[in-house]
Amino acid sequence: MTQPMLEVRDLKMHFPIGGSMLDRLRISGGLRFENPVVHAVNGVSFAIQPGEVMALVGESGCGKSTVAKTIARIYEPTAGEIRIEGQDIATLGFTDLLPIRAKMQMIFQDPYASLNPRQKVRDIVAEPLLEQVKGAERREVPARIAALLAKVGLNAEHAGRYPHQFSGGQRQRIGIARALSVTPGLIIADEPVSALDVSIQAQILNLMMDLRDEFGLAYLFISHDLSVVQHIADRVGVMYLGFMVENAPRDVLFSRPRHPYTRALLSAAPSIKAHRDREEITLTGEVPSALTLPSGCCFRTRCPFAWDRCTAERPKLQDVGEGQTVACHLTDEPERDKP
Ligand SMILES: Nc1ncnc2c1ncn2[C@@H]1O[C@H](COP(=O)(O)OP(=O)(O)OP(=O)(O)O)[C@@H](O)[C@H]1O
Ligand SMILES: [Mg+2]
Repeated sequence: MTQPMLEVRDLKMHFPIGGSMLDRLRISGGLRFENPVVHAVNGVSFAIQPGEVMALVGESGCGKSTVAKTIARIYEPTAGEIRIEGQDIATLGFTDLLPIRAKMQMIFQDPYASLNPRQKVRDIVAEPLLEQVKGAERREVPARIAALLAKVGLNAEHAGRYPHQFSGGQRQRIGIARALSVTPGLIIADEPVSALDVSIQAQILNLMMDLRDEFGLAYLFISHDLSVVQHIADRVGVMYLGFMVENAPRDVLFSRPRHPYTRALLSAAPSIKAHRDREEITLTGEVPSALTLPSGCCFRTRCPFAWDRCTAERPKLQDVGEGQTVACHLTDEPERDKP
């Protein structure tokens, strides 16, 4: 088997939050101070093969962006491994991360906020590349920028303009050119088309997929739009409360979702027309706070099938065949799968 482009093992990202001494005072078997943390990501593992598009889905606040930013090392992970072509980058310092940026780039939801308004397009696009090339090689940068702009559907004239002179779709093209400048193997795209008009969304997605075909790019693609995910992903990971609850090839996930949360998510998406052999699940109640995680299964407080084992024991992702993994005790006791 080939080496994964990205492999994440038991990744955790907990954000310490402030609060007064009084806020932090807890009584449990005595008086003690606690440092509260937001449990944004709680032990997530997955892999992306070269050229593969893996989507991350799940409700707002489930930790998708935190996974993306932690892998991109915008955040310092609390625990876990982040392997880029086998090399663990989870604890690398700034200087050691530089060569990694030639392998992995990120594009963001809001192409306006993520582009420096005071920089011309040529400087924006050249920035990651200039980090990588030294000396005489730098003379080739302008020609490379012109070629990159052409590749993403912009022209050489655009190089001298500022981000505010472009439409949202064009700005995302600039962001893509910038990411491409170092010919990475992996692009992390956090809701890259969510801020764009639907007609423009298709153009940008098509561009991203063409670039995948041309350069063998792998994507970690974050989206809350399941119809987009169904269209472009090879594999889909479903997150809930900072946990990965299911991870499966696209067609398997959409036709045979196994986790009750995945089933609920698909039931709630009218645009997804897939054959489903089980009843629909409607979600009620609220997602628990990421400050205090429920014991056992993260989804049990909203799950119509939950029983005492779900409170007592946290389910692990289990392989159920055809590349599908599910973290649910129903996998062992399928006879309970009756609403
Ligand atoms: N810098 C931060 N400091 C503290 N808490 C954070 C920080 N960033 C995210 N969180 C919290 O971590 C959890 C996960 O947030 P995250 O932004 O990763 O979710 P998401 O799945 O990307 O949501 P959305 O679909 O709305 O973009 C949330 O509870 C959020 O409030
Ligand atoms: Mg997000």
